[in-house]
Amino acid sequence: MTKLWGGRFQKSAEQWVDDFGASIEFDQQLVIEDIDGSMAHVSMLGDCKILPPEEVQLILSGLGQLKVQAENGELIYSVTNEDIHLNLEKMLIDLIGPIGGKLHTGRSRNDQVATDMHLYLKKRVGEIIELISIFQQTILLKAEEHVETIAPGYTHLQRAQPISFAHHLMAYFWMLERDKNRFSESLKRVDVSPLGAGALAGTTFPIDRALAAANLNFGDIYANSMDAVSDRDFIVEFLSDSSLVMMHLSRFAEEIILWSSQEFQFIELDDAFATGSSIMPQKKNPDMAELIRGKTGRVYGNLFSLLTTLKGLPLTYNKDMQEDKEGMFDTVQTLLGSLKIFEGMVRTMTVHTEKLHTAVHQDFSNATELADYLATKGMPFREAHEVTGKLVFLCIQRGIYLLDLPLSDLVDASHLIEEDVYDVLSPMAAVKRRNSEGGTGFDQVRIQIEKGKKLM
Ligand code: ARG
Repeated sequence: MTKLWGGRFQKSAEQWVDDFGASIEFDQQLVIEDIDGSMAHVSMLGDCKILPPEEVQLILSGLGQLKVQAENGELIYSVTNEDIHLNLEKMLIDLIGPIGGKLHTGRSRNDQVATDMHLYLKKRVGEIIELISIFQQTILLKAEEHVETIAPGYTHLQRAQPISFAHHLMAYFWMLERDKNRFSESLKRVDVSPLGAGALAGTTFPIDRALAAANLNFGDIYANSMDAVSDRDFIVEFLSDSSLVMMHLSRFAEEIILWSSQEFQFIELDDAFATGSSIMPQKKNPDMAELIRGKTGRVYGNLFSLLTTLKGLPLTYNKDMQEDKEGMFDTVQTLLGSLKIFEGMVRTMTVHTEKLHTAVHQDFSNATELADYLATKGMPFREAHEVTGKLVFLCIQRGIYLLDLPLSDLVDASHLIEEDVYDVLSPMAAVKRRNSEGGTGFDQVRIQIEKGKKLM
């Protein structure tokens, strides 16, 4: 089969060479974007009187037919035609005849492929933002149920201070809010049209780039044709924003895995989001959370892969840039899948309120309360810390907790301590009293949830 660009060539490449250079196997995912881009381009060629109306109509109807076939999965691609752009152009010519060859007037595959990528990401980023938002709403609902569920809060994975379980969940809400904002903000740079940049230098045809961009609902056009065909920053940015989402999901996944372990038993995953073991009948494994934690690696990998591909590339288009696609497609699928699964996993999980309650009563996470109590009564905080530390040690020796100490021991440690200390030491009170803005106090958590809801 002769190539669409075969004129200058005396012999054709062997099949295995073609196979290596072809991208059709993966860039066929851009079929709809490529057809939309072509339709916008050819309409503009008509409006600018570069092509006569009847030819524009013929090409548009051919493209329309190909689009229907594409949507029905009926197109058959060939590696000989290298990529989605040449495949579609060939199909168009086969369908409507040589007039189909006029579609590529004033255009190059270089601005064409860049246009496709912009269109594709614009759509997918929108879907990702939507899924993040759905996940945030689920977190809000869970948080509302658990404002007064007290749980151990950790630093260094050591029990630190008691917290409201809702407060812990809401921390992820805010991470996701930043992720969503990053994606929304990045759309400014995705929503720019390279179409009309030609191969690199623009074109001699009297095209109207703004018109073609408007046909595709782009918000802006690239100011420099060389930048337009060389720029893949918007994909790097997408991969970077995605890496942050995955990093957040992997941290949450890690907590889900810990919380559902025998050692913690803070939550139980729904059967629908867990798996069994092929050998150990008692097992219920948090596979989905582990898989999301694991998939974080491939998303980071995709970011580094593209950064490395682009490093040191001279202007303008280089075939290296064909390597921008698979990592992007993979990241889109990974992100959409992970967000969807995570939402379902959190929505259906059972929170063991009583286990959390017991856990918080069997630790020293109320020690700061005692130190603060002494400090409030005038003792310098450093000294209060020391006195409390000694009491904790005493408890450890006796195998009890601070609330179990008789008043006499407490008074021995400091005469400032009175009967009211027991109220202060209760974990429930400890959480309630942390009423500083953004703190874990129940009232503050309620305010925070309301704030979150307003963003939805
Ligand atoms: N398949 C190519 C890519 O994905 C399309 C652009 C090809 N342009 C060129 N001059 N070879 O990058």
